[in-house]
Amino acid sequence: MSIQTIGVIGAGQMGNGIAHVFAQAGFDVRMQDISEAFAAKGVATIDKNLQRGVDKGKMSAEEKAATLARIRTTTKLEDLAACDIVIEAATEKWEVKKQIFETLDAVCKPGAILASNTSSISITKLAAVTKRPEAFIGMHFMNPVPVMQLIEVIRGLATGDATFDAVMELSKKLGKTPIACNDFPGFVSNRVLLPMINEAIYALYEGVATVESIDGIMKLGMNHPMGPLTLADFIGLDTCLFILNVLHEGLGDPKYRPCPLLIKYVDAGWLGKKSGRGFYDYAKA
Ligand SMILES: NC(=O)c1ccc[n+]([C@@H]2O[C@H](COP(=O)([O-])OP(=O)(O)OC[C@H]3O[C@@H](n4cnc5c(N)ncnc54)[C@H](O)[C@@H]3O)[C@@H](O)[C@H]2O)c1
Repeated sequence: MSIQTIGVIGAGQMGNGIAHVFAQAGFDVRMQDISEAFAAKGVATIDKNLQRGVDKGKMSAEEKAATLARIRTTTKLEDLAACDIVIEAATEKWEVKKQIFETLDAVCKPGAILASNTSSISITKLAAVTKRPEAFIGMHFMNPVPVMQLIEVIRGLATGDATFDAVMELSKKLGKTPIACNDFPGFVSNRVLLPMINEAIYALYEGVATVESIDGIMKLGMNHPMGPLTLADFIGLDTCLFILNVLHEGLGDPKYRPCPLLIKYVDAGWLGKKSGRGFYDYAKA
């Protein structure tokens, strides 16, 4: 299957990154969001990130202009009818994604692949709202998309081999490394990462060590680029809690129960870097 035209739903943090890497790899991209203002903000972010590449001498001004020219925006899902694949990166809410995929299934051409960048919603369940579950798949990009090498490719229960092979090949054309897994709560990345973060929060809660010590031990001792509490602040403590609840409910095992300290911080509005306060105080920085 030849894929040339890419639809991206959502122009937020992940959506604009996905549009960026496809356009830079020579694909035509149609990026959709609920308002022109959101779409324009996404394009402005891509512009800024590409400019960084130009300033560092990694890309010419002409390449940057050509990349941006390959991205067109819209507010209508109908404008994605001719896309060979549509990758959804809208807000992480079941109702939002359900409605998007019902509409995409109706408007997209037969044979077009539908993919979701969801971090926590079942690919199998999303596929079931469409009449093409064999052409449905998870493409879980990592943040920031232009920098991170991995695409976690998630096979839903009904995902067909042709869809899987096409998405693996497409991911390689972006210069990324796709790695496959099956559809269970948290996939592999969050299933392994979030319990580690949760355990670090328990260690703080139980007075095993300070924030700085926990991060320092994990960073220097395990050769991690940043400590788990710093990483939690970057991800957003509300997002960490949400994913832990998905693991806890979806797998039914008490080992995934979110630490009470995490719940308390989220209740207080301490959401990490984005709110200025999490395990660290960003107002001071
Ligand atoms: N942020 C991360 O680190 C990360 C990593 C991997 C996967 N994800 C997943 O990617 C998806 C997007 O996350 P994000 O961090 O980019 O969120 P974000 O809030 O930055 O962006 C979401 C965008 O979706 C748009 N949107 C909302 N409803 C829509 C609709 N009905 N139709 C079209 N667009 C709509 C919003 O206007 C917004 O621009 C989520 O499913 C999330 O779980 C996030």
